[in-house]
Amino acid sequence: ATTAPLTFATTRNPAPASAETREAVLADPGFGKHFTDHMVTIDWSIDEGWHDARVEPYGPLQLDPASAVLHYGQEVFEGLKAYRHADGSVHTFRPERNAARLRNSAHRLALPELSDEDFVNAIRELVTIDEAWVPAAGEGKALYLRPFMIAYENFLGVRSAHTARFMIIACPAGSYFSDPTKPVDIWLSEEYSRAGRGGTGAAKCGGNYAASLLPTNEAYANGCEQVLFLDAAEEKYLEELGGMNIVLVGADGTVSTPLSDSILPGITRDSVLELVEAAGHRVERRRISIDEWREGVASGEIVEAFACGTAAVITPIGMLKSPHFTIENPRVDADSLSMRIRAKLTGIQNGEVADERGWLTRL
Ligand code: PLP
Ligand code: COI
Repeated sequence: ATTAPLTFATTRNPAPASAETREAVLADPGFGKHFTDHMVTIDWSIDEGWHDARVEPYGPLQLDPASAVLHYGQEVFEGLKAYRHADGSVHTFRPERNAARLRNSAHRLALPELSDEDFVNAIRELVTIDEAWVPAAGEGKALYLRPFMIAYENFLGVRSAHTARFMIIACPAGSYFSDPTKPVDIWLSEEYSRAGRGGTGAAKCGGNYAASLLPTNEAYANGCEQVLFLDAAEEKYLEELGGMNIVLVGADGTVSTPLSDSILPGITRDSVLELVEAAGHRVERRRISIDEWREGVASGEIVEAFACGTAAVITPIGMLKSPHFTIENPRVDADSLSMRIRAKLTGIQNGEVADERGWLTRL
């Protein structure tokens, strides 16, 4: 059934951050630390459906200790960015893809589904009221948007909640990694898996990230910033990193990436593959074993690897470390395919390269 788009009631923050505070944050935003003045909330109940859409001052939630999300992790989220162009306008990148993925995630977690239109309108509401928080053009920064949905029923029975809440918060964001000029080193988790067949691997739900934290600590302890997961069944095939997809580049320009139904279908990865395919590269979506990568680098057939995602953008992978071996990617220079594709993608997002595919939505 189609329902009319929701309308949003707005309560302006009576005490927004001062311009001075905001400018200080925008000068050095980091990632996920400083939030804007407002947030979006839309409530859902099994009887009323989506209702009470609103923009309010950013602030803490009141959660009953029996709230289902605190016990059974019934939660999904998204991540996308708003980019400022040189003419001052603000755009998001393929937001309808995030809307569709949120619906897929919600379906898997037995949460209600929100329409594309309500999702994009909610983004527009928040970015419009907090426009001053969108970083200036040309600095490699953007406003990171975090839509999420939680079970919001006070009930300890293990069943899907009858009430839920969708929200969006936003934070100015620079680089996700500690040193954006350096390739990232990643750690191969030999002990832990991220997701198995039939599980929640393809959904963007908090539980997947909770499961990645212990192996990520192991990565940190070994001087790496991300963990690489292999498939759970055979412990042999590349899946993805804790918070990004992985792509390998061959000496002949072939671009390959794992095919798996237990990884997050990344919008950045999809866009990258479409761009490189259009530029004449062969693109392979298939199972790739860790041995194939290792042997490919040793024989010179594989020359680059990169991580990609909204937060990570495109970051070359320097080294893969494991308890038993390392893989050192030979190419991490500025003229690598990773860096060229990064320039093209960020050029589109920032309005410096023509948006031939209609990927941008002006807010
Ligand atoms: N894989 C995981 C586990 C992620 O958290 C992300 C980031 O959202 C991605 C892949 C990349 O997805 P996207 O490019 O849509 O941001
Ligand atoms: C994103 O890229 O949007 C994510 O959610 C991944 C996380 C590492 C922040």
